Amino acid sequence: MSASASSDLLQRAQRLSPDLAERLVAWQHQDGRHHLPWQRVRDPYRVWLSEIMLQQTQVTTVLGYFARFLQRFPDVQVLAAAPLDDVLTLWAGLGYYSRARNLHRCAQDVVNLHGGHFPTSCDALQSLPGIGPSTAAAIASFCFDERVSIMDGNVKRVLSRVLGWGEDLSVRAHEKALIAAAQVVLPLRAEVMPSYTQGLMDLGATVCTPRKPSCLMCPWSDLCVARQVGDPERYPVKSRKLKRSERENWWLWLVWREQVWLQQMPDKGVWAGLWTLPLLDGDEAVNALLDEVLGKSLSERVERQPRMKHVLTHLDWWLHARRVVVDDAEAVHLSVALRAQAPSGQWVPLADLANWGLPAPLRRLLVG
Ligand code: ADE
Repeated sequence: MSASASSDLLQRAQRLSPDLAERLVAWQHQDGRHHLPWQRVRDPYRVWLSEIMLQQTQVTTVLGYFARFLQRFPDVQVLAAAPLDDVLTLWAGLGYYSRARNLHRCAQDVVNLHGGHFPTSCDALQSLPGIGPSTAAAIASFCFDERVSIMDGNVKRVLSRVLGWGEDLSVRAHEKALIAAAQVVLPLRAEVMPSYTQGLMDLGATVCTPRKPSCLMCPWSDLCVARQVGDPERYPVKSRKLKRSERENWWLWLVWREQVWLQQMPDKGVWAGLWTLPLLDGDEAVNALLDEVLGKSLSERVERQPRMKHVLTHLDWWLHARRVVVDDAEAVHLSVALRAQAPSGQWVPLADLANWGLPAPLRRLLVG
């Protein structure tokens, strides 16, 4: 990037300011979203909780979780004092469980290091676990009117289009130039920051979408450089795409007297701390375990379930469940062997599964 490219960008941002912000705020009042439960509150606990939940999850999914969370953990003190297992159980199904662990650690830091009050500046908020620059900006602008710009993927798209920033955002210097421009186009009046921030989110979610943006509905359409050049979908430019990988596992689904065998996942990894059926590497491993422990082949009794695909941001995870109903003697032998590998293993009554933190695909499999 030449120095002149970034100074052109800043100049364009200055030329469009304060028009962009004023129009966006007016549009947000008229056409934005107003009825989400974390809006129009200035309570950083609620705003923080909603922002963490919304990081990788759709609004419609978050609504139910948000309400259940607040009911069980009405404030940061209650959350900080709760056992991590309770937090993970309520989080189960939202995915990306490091968010739940950080949530719990963050609540404890707020209570232990900040006297139970969230810090009020974007800078200070970023010292807390799980709060990055964009989440900190959301909390600071929604709750404390701070003039800072959120900078999530949606906002990068919206601003790179309106400002016609066609440099590759995978290059840190290009991204930084856009972040600097985002600060330039902020509203001059701090008190409209909550509407402005919500407006950026709403515009990205409902109008300036990745494909087929609804430019005719956009408050910025006559100013938008990407539209003038004729192809908004070309922005933002991002050469380094997420590398996806595949993984495949076999679930040993043991059923004994209306119970299933569950064990807790280790502290690291996608399902850290959640409860799962034992995970194995293939049908051979499933059969070998059963044969070895029981001294007889159960392969004709093993029911092969259709494979399930669990899609994560970086991973397609194929899961094959292998179900087998065992008798009393088999249950005893298998539980001894499995507990030697994973000491948390135990029989869990089917009727009790709702109280256990299960990953979403396992909940679908076992509970329906
Ligand atoms: N996504 C992230 N934060 C949001 C918010 N406050 N409202 C709607 N969608 C969001």
